[in-house]
Amino acid sequence: MDKILDVNNLKSGYGNVQILNGIDLYVEKNEFVTIIGPNGCGKSTFIKTIFGLCNYFSGDVFFQGNPITKIRSDLLISMGISYVPQVNNVFSSLSVYENLQIGSLLLDKNQFYNKLNYIYDLFPDLYSRSTDMAESLSGGERQMLAISRALLSNPKFLLLDEPTAALSPKFQKIIINKISELRDSGITILLVEQNAKLSLASSDRGYIFSNGKVVLNSKASKILNEDNISEYFLGKIK
Ligand SMILES: Nc1ncnc2c1ncn2[C@@H]1O[C@H](COP(=O)(O)OP(=O)(O)O)[C@@H](O)[C@H]1O
Ligand SMILES: [Mg+2]
Repeated sequence: MDKILDVNNLKSGYGNVQILNGIDLYVEKNEFVTIIGPNGCGKSTFIKTIFGLCNYFSGDVFFQGNPITKIRSDLLISMGISYVPQVNNVFSSLSVYENLQIGSLLLDKNQFYNKLNYIYDLFPDLYSRSTDMAESLSGGERQMLAISRALLSNPKFLLLDEPTAALSPKFQKIIINKISELRDSGITILLVEQNAKLSLASSDRGYIFSNGKVVLNSKASKILNEDNISEYFLGKIK
């Protein structure tokens, strides 16, 4: 098993307040893994801790075999990790193109134009709106822009926090399908989702969190198909 991310007994939080109570989780290279669980159970906190944005208390986090709990976010980006936050993930008062420019400060001009072509191929809607302000985008287009910004750093491993929240069912599907495409192109995916059914349908494995702990880790198809699992942990799975 070739683990790109390996997390053991991770405890973290904000200031002195502990939110994660010992998380064990791994993601294999080129896997698509989804984390689900009720509001406030620590899903965003987990993603933020991996990306160096929370107060780390104890436990291990290895990325490609290297310990990363003490590594700053900007260095994690250069190691190949990228993060799409849950909210406020684009600059509203900048155009689509300017948002992409800002995300590309590490690239030289040629690399930027290559990446821009790749992104406009992946999300043609962004090409047609490249000079529009990000605040004028639909929710779905905004998520496409946020994902594109994360892709500019050439990630091997992409962390996404609820990219389909508040989107119409049509855009939810488009976004999840695009994330699957990214996986097919070789990027490993760790996704937090409220739309459990939709995301698990495209995932290899799922984790269910509750109260800062993992309560279940299983094949995504198993979580989807076993009524007692979904009902016990999630109420009626959405
Ligand atoms: N910046 C913060 N400072 C202090 N507490 C926070 C902060 N962000 C989240 N929390 C708390 O951490 C807990 C877990 O939140 P979060 O990880 O955002 O949950 P989820 O993403 O699963 O809905 C909640 O009790 C929340 O109030
Ligand atoms: Mg959250």
